[in-house]
Amino acid sequence: MTVRRIGTWKDAVRRASDAAIACLLPGGLSIASILAHVDGYLFPHEGVFLYWLARSGPGSGSIVEIGSFRGRSTLCMAEGVRGRRETRIFAIDPHVYGTADELRENIAHFDAGSLIEPRVLPSVDAARSWGEPVRLVFVDGNHERASVEADIDAWVPHLVPGGFLLVHDSTSVSGHPGPTEVARERLRIGPLFDAVGQLGAITWARRPGASSWLPPAYGKAILDPCIRTLKGRRS
Ligand SMILES: C[S@@+](CC[C@H](N)C(=O)[O-])C[C@H]1O[C@@H](n2cnc3c(N)ncnc32)[C@H](O)[C@@H]1O
Repeated sequence: MTVRRIGTWKDAVRRASDAAIACLLPGGLSIASILAHVDGYLFPHEGVFLYWLARSGPGSGSIVEIGSFRGRSTLCMAEGVRGRRETRIFAIDPHVYGTADELRENIAHFDAGSLIEPRVLPSVDAARSWGEPVRLVFVDGNHERASVEADIDAWVPHLVPGGFLLVHDSTSVSGHPGPTEVARERLRIGPLFDAVGQLGAITWARRPGASSWLPPAYGKAILDPCIRTLKGRRS
């Protein structure tokens, strides 16, 4: 089975340059072919960040992704958990853009069927009947403010001590108003979280626990300012 080719030659060039940039970062070689073939909304250093969180993040339990689309971010995390068999990734998405089949094809192409379990339903519905510990939640679903808040309210209670909550499109690098406002207000150091940070368009927060592990921020110092500058020129 092959990966569907999507978009114009410009999209293909962008994917290839994303893959090349990832190769310059530690661990990036492992996800380069995913970035080269699967379209989506994820900068290369974000893919590397997700890879390391999935590979080396603390705690045991599943990874929950809210909003998988074609599987670009899902597959980066799957590459991270390959050597860590206790972790499964639940790819929760009602696929409002009709991407369910494409996600399944991409999972098969990258031989990640034993690592990723797609669930085709809205995130809060999935959370209602949830019964297992979660060590990482990546929120990248509906970007309306109320929806981002509902995702956080539904999933933070399932996070293990030391687990990580990530909200995409919530920083000045490719931010959206809904996730950005919610991350600014909710992902703060206090009773819920003992460490917070940003990389690319991702805001992250760590649940208090035994672990002092922090994710590496490869590429942030160079790529974040570059993307912000390019965005400023275009708008
Ligand atoms: C920005 S895309 C995700 C991009 C993806 N993470 C990537 O790496 O390319 C947003 C996705 O959220 C999904 N979505 C919309 N509402 C949702 C909800 N209530 N729960 C989970 N996913 C949702 C959409 O179907 C869409 O596929």
